[in-house]
Amino acid sequence: MGSIRKVVLAYSGGVDTSVCIPYLKEEYGIQDVIAFAADLGQGDELEPIRQKAIQAGASKSLVEDLVSPFVEDFAFPAIRANALYEGRYPLSTALARPLIAKRLVDIAFQYGADAVAHGCTGKGNDQVRFDVAIGSLAPHLKVLTPARTWGMSREETIAYGEKFGIPAPVNKKSPYSIDLNLLGRSVEAGVLEDPMIVPPDEVFAMTSSIKNAPDHFEDIEIRFKSGNPVALNGVNKDPVALIHEANILAGKHGFGRIDMIENRVVGIKSREIYETPGLLLLIRAHQELETLTLPADVLNTKSFLEKQWANLVYQGLWFTPLKEALDSFIDKTQENVGGLVRIRLHKGNAIIIGRS
Ligand code: ARG
Repeated sequence: MGSIRKVVLAYSGGVDTSVCIPYLKEEYGIQDVIAFAADLGQGDELEPIRQKAIQAGASKSLVEDLVSPFVEDFAFPAIRANALYEGRYPLSTALARPLIAKRLVDIAFQYGADAVAHGCTGKGNDQVRFDVAIGSLAPHLKVLTPARTWGMSREETIAYGEKFGIPAPVNKKSPYSIDLNLLGRSVEAGVLEDPMIVPPDEVFAMTSSIKNAPDHFEDIEIRFKSGNPVALNGVNKDPVALIHEANILAGKHGFGRIDMIENRVVGIKSREIYETPGLLLLIRAHQELETLTLPADVLNTKSFLEKQWANLVYQGLWFTPLKEALDSFIDKTQENVGGLVRIRLHKGNAIIIGRS
């Protein structure tokens, strides 16, 4: 590793990525660690995160607001593709990874870094998504993955960090692993590891329980143009505002909770709880509008290709020729997907009650 002098690290502010900073300096002998954190609408305060990286020893700490490109270039294509991995998961976490990877690579070029790094462990999908995306965007860049090889337990990681002034996490006792952005929350581990355990109330934050959802239903209308949602209840909205409000409306009525066993890229099954109220609502509405606006043969072919699209995105194959080709097909089908969908939100349901 002696040849690497400067690295750009994908930084979240969490323990693993924070510990990566001193670890890259001490164990890999890299002088310059540039931390890069993306604002994807996760609602965290980013200035403390920026400072935390500096405290941990980063030579530079960058924070970028990527919410608009995240929604326009990643979430909206997923809506046009009705993308649901294994028929259920709207890819809220997976869609963020290619965008982060792209910015990581751009920043590495900008600052003349010889490598990029991420703090993913060896068990999940995200390590694969970063590696694959970076590999296709910049095959010559080295990808360093300290958390995959350091072999420290969580306690050891925290202890290592404390030696370098990285505070132990406040919610040290939270048994869950949570990924969060504007599109949703993904929660795994802890008691959820037993697939028969009922998810405790504490795992949810974006959606009401059925019990707490309003007793009275609420009817809403979503307007689409060329496959993209453009208005909510008759009011035009920019893409970010639209997702945001769809989250609030659907979340209030307890719609958008998913409890599933999924097949991970690395070959294991895992249980994950998702809350993706707005995105799931918009996909349902979009799917419905297509039943009215697309010819039967196009619908049929598209439904097959949508599964391929969702699989590609899940597996991290965003920047690939097949993904690009599927996008061309999907975009062509969307030219006349315009109109209105009326939905009744009630106690965990989003019931389609009209379309034009
Ligand atoms: N299983 C989901 C995916 O691979 C979400 C993983 C997010 N991470 C988490 N800590 N829950 O896209």
